[in-house]
Amino acid sequence: MTMQHELGQLAARRIDGLPVFCGAAAPGLIEVAEWHVWSLIPSTPDQLRIEAWLEGFALNGASILHVGAGNSLFAKRFCGHGACVTGTTVAREEVAHGESLAIPGYRVLLHNKYSGADGRDWPRFDFIVDNNPSSFGCCLDHYMAMLRFYADVLAPGGQVLVDRVGLGWSLSNAQSDARWGFAFEDLAATAELVGLRAFAVSPTIIALARENPKKPSYIRQLMRKIVRRLKGG
Ligand SMILES: C[S@@+](CC[C@H](N)C(=O)[O-])C[C@H]1O[C@@H](n2cnc3c(N)ncnc32)[C@H](O)[C@@H]1O
Repeated sequence: MTMQHELGQLAARRIDGLPVFCGAAAPGLIEVAEWHVWSLIPSTPDQLRIEAWLEGFALNGASILHVGAGNSLFAKRFCGHGACVTGTTVAREEVAHGESLAIPGYRVLLHNKYSGADGRDWPRFDFIVDNNPSSFGCCLDHYMAMLRFYADVLAPGGQVLVDRVGLGWSLSNAQSDARWGFAFEDLAATAELVGLRAFAVSPTIIALARENPKKPSYIRQLMRKIVRRLKGG
């Protein structure tokens, strides 16, 4: 059975409205007011949940890909823990904003995740954070290019962190297109096609990994939370 056939079956079973192939060689950028230039907008609750989870890991020297750099506060937080962060965005203004912060260990790139690796040389990442991987996809074929890219650049033992609410947000938002509203099962079935398994590691966080993903330390999460409170953050 071909990948195209499997995706067709999957779309017919589960993913309403998202075409299997949009017909374009390069993925379209779908203009949606919700994501327009997030440089000065606070981080979403989805992303903050993933950040709180990630804080429980030993991050000194870790390499993190943050897809949807937004205000770059993610990079500020995790470069502060000794990680190297690569942020990606489709908004030039967010790149300029991220660069203006001059965060040591951070680089921010203009990159459409649905173009896959896009011919660039990427490092391997211990963590890939994408709080809403199905938004704002043009079709399943380009969505699969993104998942293949994530699988290819994931370091051994690495994990892709997704938020369940972010994954399905467009289903609960009347102004948004329901075709981006994926369920856990949709993510799990599509990730399997690139050799990744989906694990519900918390009530809201999903990790995609090749084997059982490492768990964060609760004590470390707590200590970092206390330190942040003491610093007034
Ligand atoms: C709503 S903002 C959220 C920013 C941040 N992740 C947060 O949760 O606070 C959406 C982000 O996703 C990025 N984005 C949208 N479509 C993208 C795509 N196809 N590839 C990479 N980034 C994309 C936007 O540039 C923006 O940084």
